[in-house]
Amino acid sequence: MNIGTVGVIGAGQMGNGIAHVCALSGLDVILHDVDEGAIERGLATINGNLARQVAKGAIDDATRDTTLKRIRPSGGLDALAACDLVIESATEEEQIKRKIFADVCPVLPEHTILATNTSSISITRLAASTDRPERFMGIHFMNPVPVMELVELVRGIATDEKTFEASRNFVAHIGKKATVAEDFPAFIVNRILLPMINEAIYTLYEGVGSVEAIDTAMKLGANHPMGPLELADFIGLDTCLSIMQVLYEGLADSKYRPCPLLVKYVEAGWLGRKTSRGFYDYR
Ligand code: CAA
Repeated sequence: MNIGTVGVIGAGQMGNGIAHVCALSGLDVILHDVDEGAIERGLATINGNLARQVAKGAIDDATRDTTLKRIRPSGGLDALAACDLVIESATEEEQIKRKIFADVCPVLPEHTILATNTSSISITRLAASTDRPERFMGIHFMNPVPVMELVELVRGIATDEKTFEASRNFVAHIGKKATVAEDFPAFIVNRILLPMINEAIYTLYEGVGSVEAIDTAMKLGANHPMGPLELADFIGLDTCLSIMQVLYEGLADSKYRPCPLLVKYVEAGWLGRKTSRGFYDYR
């Protein structure tokens, strides 16, 4: 099946990145968000990231302009009826995702593939809340989307082979490398990455090292491009906590217990870069 028009639900850091790479690869994109202000902010971010690519010589001015023209704000959920693939990229909360699927499914034509960019939640369970479990996929991008090469592909138990192949072709078309993960809590990347980040927060909580010491240790001692606490701020501490909760509940093992300090930061509204405060102060 050919994918020509992609709908992206959620214009936040992941959603605008997905819209960016899809449009850059020549696909038409309809960007939707419940908050129209979020669409404007998302488009401004895409503009800034494309300008960065122009400045680096990765793309030219004409490519930037055509890419931007390919992204259309939805103006309402009904516009997604024109899509061959719709990727939900909202907050990492199951109830919010289910509500989005309930609203969008009646609008979508039968052939449309519905995908979720969830970083941890069961694809089978989300699929079961829709009218198309056989045309439902996990297509999980990494942050920052324009830079990171990997996309995880996750089938639900009912996903059919045509949907999987179309998703795999889509990922290749947009220039990303796919890896296939089975439908277990947090799949592959976050099953490994998030316990490492959680352990870094425990290391801080227990006073083993300062924020700077922990990040420097992992950057210079393990060659990570960002320290784990800087990375947690970058991902969003609310997202980190949601993923740890999915691991803790889904795998019923105390080794996944979210660090109490992570819980406290989220309760304080210190969610990392997006709120200008997390383990670092961005104000
Ligand atoms: N859009 C477009 N290009 C961007 C960009 C963006 N948002 N952010 C950075 N870039 C580009 C830069 O232009 C630069 O390009 P060149 O190599 O062509 O010069 C390149 O990326 C490197 O950027 P910088 O030089 O500005 O900064 P850096 O060297 O510090 O790299 C980084 C920034 C790529 C983010 C790097 O720090 C990194 O790889 N960090 C780790 C990111 C990571 O682990 N992501 C996964 C998070 S987990 C996840 O996403 C899964 C989940 O579900 C939670």
